[in-house]
Amino acid sequence: MTDTFLWGGAIAANQAEGAYLEDGKKLTVMDVVPQGVNRRKIKQGLIDYKTVYDENAYHYPSHNGIDFYHTYPEDIKLLAEMGITAFRTSISWTRIYPTGEEKEPNAAGLHYYKSLFELCKSYGMEPVVTISHFDVPLHLVETYGSWKNRKMIDFYLKYARTLFVTFKGLVKYWITFNEINVILHNSFSGAGLILCDEENPEQVKYQAAHHELVASAAATKMAHEIDRDNQIGCMLAAGDYYPFSCHPKDVWSALNKNRESYFFIDIQSRGAYPSYADRLFAEKGVQLVTEKDDFRMLANYPVDFIALSYYTSRCISYESTAEITEANIMTSVKNPHLESSDWGWQMDPLGLRTTLNTLYDRYQKPLFLVENGLGAKDVLKNGTVSDDYRIEYLRQHIQAMRESQRDGVKMIGYLAWGCIDLVAASTGEMSKRYGFVYVDRDDEGHGTNARLKKKSFNWYKKVIASNGHCL
Ligand code: BG6
Repeated sequence: MTDTFLWGGAIAANQAEGAYLEDGKKLTVMDVVPQGVNRRKIKQGLIDYKTVYDENAYHYPSHNGIDFYHTYPEDIKLLAEMGITAFRTSISWTRIYPTGEEKEPNAAGLHYYKSLFELCKSYGMEPVVTISHFDVPLHLVETYGSWKNRKMIDFYLKYARTLFVTFKGLVKYWITFNEINVILHNSFSGAGLILCDEENPEQVKYQAAHHELVASAAATKMAHEIDRDNQIGCMLAAGDYYPFSCHPKDVWSALNKNRESYFFIDIQSRGAYPSYADRLFAEKGVQLVTEKDDFRMLANYPVDFIALSYYTSRCISYESTAEITEANIMTSVKNPHLESSDWGWQMDPLGLRTTLNTLYDRYQKPLFLVENGLGAKDVLKNGTVSDDYRIEYLRQHIQAMRESQRDGVKMIGYLAWGCIDLVAASTGEMSKRYGFVYVDRDDEGHGTNARLKKKSFNWYKKVIASNGHCL
């Protein structure tokens, strides 16, 4: 590890802040996604949230999160005790532009994030900021169809400009879109898309993705113009697909499945649509509507680094009889060689090394692992959690990352996901915990909200103090 390697933790506004209508904030997409009933299909954009929205009947976990909006001073202080040198969060778009359409930003929202980032800095933590993490303003969904509409580029750039100007000198690392490839899977939570029966969903998704990609490149240009020190990253929900067998059809399926995700990074990092795009679009009946400057923008303003989340690898088989298991965002054929978490996500540290090496071979840009961790059922006993399983998962993944670095992969840092327990994005549960800090809340949002250190807290502190040597 270099001396400048960042060790930290990550959260997202919609999973932690709560205070969903406070200080001028208005609804974002995740605020209308309930826990349990129809959650997956609403997130995918296959069920319109409006047809089932009922605050009295369902629990909407983002409304209260872990109340980080109010507790951040104590939470950051606690995280600082571990010695973390980076803290990643997202900015909630509607705290800054409540509908997305205002001419002037909401001062209360800017003040909140300024205080948060200043506090991070005072503890020696570099803020790593995601501009859009599952929180398109609901007004933009209702009025414009969200990223289906090219107008979103301007709304996004107005918002991004406000952030770059306001937080100049305070924030250096920016991620334009959390896990941009998620748009193909969780189209509503990822990008505010509601997929209607009469539309070709592939056309809608790739057109919306094109708008996001152009917006991302334009934001990269803007960020560099405002502050040359800014470092802009794209982000991939990573975890390669393995062929389930050596049958050539499995190998081909895996290549295609991986291309589905690398497609985005190919564009954001290399600055051009990949060679396989034309055939892909033809087969899916996609006809992109573009403007002539789009391709120049993509070509001239690639990202500075590639951020990724990694929880699990995946498998694919051409045979439809294979057993399927859960994985982050995209499901997977169950890999018989791997253990599974309580939620069926399969644990594969070597898969992280494979993924990091593949990404670096492909793009030769610094990588930033901004999410990694184990969602597990923790048991609180005598005011703490003996989470040896989490320590073991993290130890093995950090070891694998170090091997990648020895392989020559350049890395900016490692951020553990959900460093303080928060609401799970997939299920909306609190009981799927990732943190070094336990938050006393249950799946219905009941509890004292107290913060308690788990065993992994002191373990991670030692890892950081030893710059990753003491695992
Ligand atoms: C990533 C997201 O896909 O996975 C996070 O960026 C999410 O928002 C994380 O929390 C883990 O998923 P889950 O469903 O366990 O919270």
